[in-house]
Amino acid sequence: METPFVSAQTYMDEFDPVAYHRMYYHPEETTLPGERLEFALRNYHETFTSDGVKGDLLIDFGCGPSIYQLLSACEAFKNIISSDLVEQNRAEVEKWLRKDPDALDWTQIVKFVCELEGNSDDESCKKKEEKLRRTVTKVLKCDALKKNPFDPVKLPQADCLISVLCLEVACKDVETYKKAVRNLNGLIKPGGHIVIHSVLNCTYYYVGQKRFFCLGVTQEEMEMAFKEAGFEIVKLKIIPRTEKPGEGIFDKDKYYFVHARKRCS
Ligand SMILES: C[S@@+](CC[C@H](N)C(=O)[O-])C[C@H]1O[C@@H](n2cnc3c(N)ncnc32)[C@H](O)[C@@H]1O
Repeated sequence: METPFVSAQTYMDEFDPVAYHRMYYHPEETTLPGERLEFALRNYHETFTSDGVKGDLLIDFGCGPSIYQLLSACEAFKNIISSDLVEQNRAEVEKWLRKDPDALDWTQIVKFVCELEGNSDDESCKKKEEKLRRTVTKVLKCDALKKNPFDPVKLPQADCLISVLCLEVACKDVETYKKAVRNLNGLIKPGGHIVIHSVLNCTYYYVGQKRFFCLGVTQEEMEMAFKEAGFEIVKLKIIPRTEKPGEGIFDKDKYYFVHARKRCS
């Protein structure tokens, strides 16, 4: 069964951040991090430590209700701006930032990242959360389909932009996906970095009972999109999906991680 494209308005009306977190980041029967998250977290750790990606400003584009993707980056950037299309997702991030008692729980993932960094005692995990809370200074509305995705706000160009599991769900076809990558290019300084992790050949995912569209891009289309948008790929990693749990909640078959740099001219 083909899943129809889901408009921005449907995201705003129907994306349930709590159900999303429960299904993908706090499953009752599975142990975290799981295959995808481990792949992602190890790559972020490497990128923001040994690969030396660092600077003043990092933009997290299409953050959803999530903060886990910033746990390594917050050690390498002075200022992080989180952003998402959907108001209820931004509200969940804000809740976590202000330590609201109802905020989503990321502690298992924080512990895993602290383990990667070599300090996973309770005190270090608490310090990590506090560091991230201090570093995220804004949570803004964004739309990947706009030429300036923050319109009417004009942000200074960032040293790095990270975006996770976002472009494929926002774009109805490969042409739009390529355009969205170009739109992200405009948000980054010449020579700056883009770090993208997502899925290949995935056509849907569930959030609660709601089935959302995903654009099934191939590796060739993805690489072409970055090159045509003015990026040079520094590192590309692709792994097949092998684990069974969650089989019915998405149909991706590969995970990708790209670190690329915006060309200077
Ligand atoms: C699968 S979630 C990923 C969230 C988060 N990055 C993560 O890793 O958990 C997809 C996100 O893309 C956002 N999104 C959908 N369309 C968008 C658009 N046109 N511009 C920006 N974000 C969009 C949704 O609101 C949602 O938060």
